[in-house]
Amino acid sequence: MTISTRTIGNGSAALTVSGLGLGCMGMSDFYGTRSEAGSTDERESVATIRRALDLGVNFLDTADMYGPHTNERLVGRAIAGRRDEVVIATKFGIVRDPATGARGGISGRPEYVHAAVDGSLQRLGIDHIDLYYQHRVDPSVPIEETVGAMAELVAAGKVRFLGLSEASPETIRRAHGVHRLTAVETEYSLWTRDVEAEILPTLRELGIGLVPYSPLGRGFLTGTITSTDALDEGDFRRANPRFVGDALDANLTIVEKVRAIAEVKHVTVAQLALAWVLAQGEDVVPIPGTRRVARIEENAAATEIVLTHEELEALGDLGAAAGDRYADMSSVNG
Ligand SMILES: NC(=O)c1ccc[n+]([C@@H]2O[C@H](COP(=O)([O-])OP(=O)(O)OC[C@H]3O[C@@H](n4cnc5c(N)ncnc54)[C@H](OP(=O)(O)O)[C@@H]3O)[C@@H](O)[C@H]2O)c1
Repeated sequence: MTISTRTIGNGSAALTVSGLGLGCMGMSDFYGTRSEAGSTDERESVATIRRALDLGVNFLDTADMYGPHTNERLVGRAIAGRRDEVVIATKFGIVRDPATGARGGISGRPEYVHAAVDGSLQRLGIDHIDLYYQHRVDPSVPIEETVGAMAELVAAGKVRFLGLSEASPETIRRAHGVHRLTAVETEYSLWTRDVEAEILPTLRELGIGLVPYSPLGRGFLTGTITSTDALDEGDFRRANPRFVGDALDANLTIVEKVRAIAEVKHVTVAQLALAWVLAQGEDVVPIPGTRRVARIEENAAATEIVLTHEELEALGDLGAAAGDRYADMSSVNG
C-alpha cells in the first residue's frame, strides 16, 4: 500500500502531507483514564506511531493540552531518530495545569504564544514545528495579535506553517490577512457536517486546507461503541451528549446504516466513514486517532477505497448526529 499525498494551503503556505494523518490525543488523554506516564499503553502507542510512519502516514497531530504535556512527550519519544520522516502538527491556547489537568481558560496573548512554542519544542525534542495551530480562539485577544505572534515564530524558524482550530469564517479571514494559513482543524465526519455551510467554502475561497478531527465520530462511527458501559471511568465520552440517552439510540441507527453499506462493499465501518471524508476533496486531510497498530493499518487502507456516486449519495443522506458535539459549546467557532 502506498499512501498518496495531499497538499493543504496555497503558495507560500502550501504543505504536503500524507493524505491521511494520525491523531495522537487518545494515546494520553480523553479516551481512557488520563495517565501520568503519558500514555494508557506507552508501548502500543509508540508502536502505532512508528507503524504509521512505516506505512507512509507522516502527518501526526498532537497538542500541548493533551495530557497535558504528556502526549507531546510521547510523540517526541516515538519519532526520535525519524524527524525527517514526520510532519508534526501541535497546538497551543487551552491552558491546563500539568499536575492536575484542571482547565485554566484560553490564552492567545502574544507572550503566551511565545512561551507555549518553546515548551512544545522542548517536549517534542525537535527544533521546529511543521504546523502550529491556535487550539481555540481567545475572545479577549484580537486574532490579529495572536496570529501576529505566531508569524513571529515563523520568522524565527521555530514554526513552518500556521493554522487555527475551531474558528469562525470571520476569524479565519482576519487571521489569514495577517499571515497565510495552511489549515483549519475542526470536527468533520459523516455525522458532523456543519463545516460545509460556511467554513469549507471560506477555506476554499482562501486556499486553506481542512484537517477534519474526530473523523470517526470519536470512535462511534466504527460500530464498536454501543454504550458507554465499556468506557473507562475517566473517558470524556461518558459525558458527551452524543453518547448518552436518547441521542445514543438515535445515533446507533446511523451507524447501522453505515454498517449495511460497509458489508456490501467488504470494508469495515471505520474504513467507510474515513473513505467518505477523504472523498470530500483533495484539500481535506483527516486525522483519525488510534493507539493500536492494527487500527492504523486498517485506517490507512481506507485511502485506497473508491466510493461510487451511489455510495456517496447514500452516505451523504444519513443525517446529522443527535446531540451537541460538546457538553459546553461555548469555546467552539470562535
Ligand atoms: N482541534 C481539536 O479541538 C481536536 C479535538 C478532538 C480531537 N482532535 C485531534 O483529532 C484526532 C482524531 O480525533 P479523535 O481521536 O477525537 O476521534 P476519531 O479519530 O473520530 O476516533 C478515535 C477513536 O476511534 C477508535 N478507533 C480508531 N480507529 C478505529 C478502527 N479502525 N476501529 C474501531 N475503532 C477505531 C479509537 O480507539 P483506539 O485508540 O482504541 O483504537 C478512538 O477511541 C485526535 O487524536 C486529536 O489529535 C482535535
